[in-house]
Amino acid sequence: MPETCKLNLDGKEYELPVVTGTENEKAIDISKLRATTGYITLDDGFANTGSCQSSITYIDGEKGILRYRGYPVEQLAENCTFTEVAYLLIFGELPDEANRKNWWDLLTEHELLHEDMRHHFEGFPATAHPMAILSAMINANSCFYPHLMDLDDETFVDAAARIVSKVRTISAFAYRKSMGLPRIYPRPDYSYTANFLHMMFSLPNKDYDLRPEVVKALSELLILHADHEQNCSTSTVRMVGSAQANLFASVAAGVCALWGSLHGGANQQVLEMLQNIRECGESLDKVVERAKDKSDPFRLYGFGHRVYKNFDPRAKIIKKACDELLEVLHIDDPLLDIAKRLEEVALSDEYFIERKLYPNVDFYSGIILRAIGIPLNMFTVMFAIGRVPGWVAHWREVHTDPSGRIYRPRQVYQGENERSIAPLEKRGA
Ligand code: SDX
Repeated sequence: MPETCKLNLDGKEYELPVVTGTENEKAIDISKLRATTGYITLDDGFANTGSCQSSITYIDGEKGILRYRGYPVEQLAENCTFTEVAYLLIFGELPDEANRKNWWDLLTEHELLHEDMRHHFEGFPATAHPMAILSAMINANSCFYPHLMDLDDETFVDAAARIVSKVRTISAFAYRKSMGLPRIYPRPDYSYTANFLHMMFSLPNKDYDLRPEVVKALSELLILHADHEQNCSTSTVRMVGSAQANLFASVAAGVCALWGSLHGGANQQVLEMLQNIRECGESLDKVVERAKDKSDPFRLYGFGHRVYKNFDPRAKIIKKACDELLEVLHIDDPLLDIAKRLEEVALSDEYFIERKLYPNVDFYSGIILRAIGIPLNMFTVMFAIGRVPGWVAHWREVHTDPSGRIYRPRQVYQGENERSIAPLEKRGA
């Protein structure tokens, strides 16, 4: 007998189906609510609303659990490469030897951009924010592949590989443009992350010194950013994809949503916050007080999360990776000490305890990026490079959904009631 729940409205009782997930999450299915009751629901920020049923990522916010296709993110970060995790998210299983090689060969085949794309880079000012370049160039890139606007199973694999592979080339080229440096082309013998670092930091006359510890730390960071179920940017990709927009347009929209300072842009805000604290010498108690002050727009960037009401498991891994990488590189970054002390002060404050505000993925990630030499305005781009496989997987899930309905929420109208147009001379009277 399917589980149901009862709803009493205007003296009538309605029975609504209850949907249970594979991890026993429960949801009231309201897909027939308006048709049967005339009511809709209202949920500010969709905090209590499931937009879909998905098989890609599972989060338990109370327990601080994150799994991609059932695998704990801790295990994936420790044992897999970023391209293996990208394959897992997109195709649902970790690749066997043959698939691993095929996927790698595809990513290598598609690591270059069409040479005409260089003209677009020339058109951007050196001061252009790389997130603007990234979203523009993902869409521009699709102009060279008209055959990938409508995808079938075979062409989807090709398009997925192109986006996953080229997003790092576009990002590195954007950085080189901002630095007035010549573009460095990828090498087929380098791993995904090593190639990115090569394109970012090598010179025509001197290859970048690829430290294995740096490559591993960055690969781990990309894995930890690879998906996070229905976050703002992924929901954007699904929303755009639900209109049957192509994969490139949907991912470009995801880049734009991720740029927001409350979302992926927070990693850049955290570093600026830590730098301000260091330069101004503001006490950490004062910083926390300002974050609590509703009249002050300042908030503690890198803290809090819509879903995690416990430690973000990614923050714990990144914090440990910070210590390890800075030790290997013999870097003593005062901002890491400030971050750790700020975490202690905040986590002992009743305001944060009561609201279950913990460090999130963005709180420590910038310390690693800074240690590697990646500039502040590229931090959110790094988040995007990591998140692309998740966006591609979610776009695919929307496109293969048998119902295939366009996402179109309702609203409660609070505007003017019907009125007639007044002649111009009587307006404003
Ligand atoms: C990411 O969704 C995802 O999964 C996102 C992400 C992913 O992988 O895709 O995990 C990546 O975006 C992480 C979040 C990065 N953003 C930040 O670090 C920005 C700072 N954090 C906050 O803006 C906030 O915590 C959000 C945006 C992350 C979550 O906002 P919610 O769920 O809407 O929470 P809220 O604003 O309703 O906060 C509840 C209370 C409020 O106070 P009261 O009204 O109850 O008095 O907590 C307060 C908030 O003012 N609060 C904070 C705070 N975060 C929440 N107060 C001070 N500093 C903060 N950081």
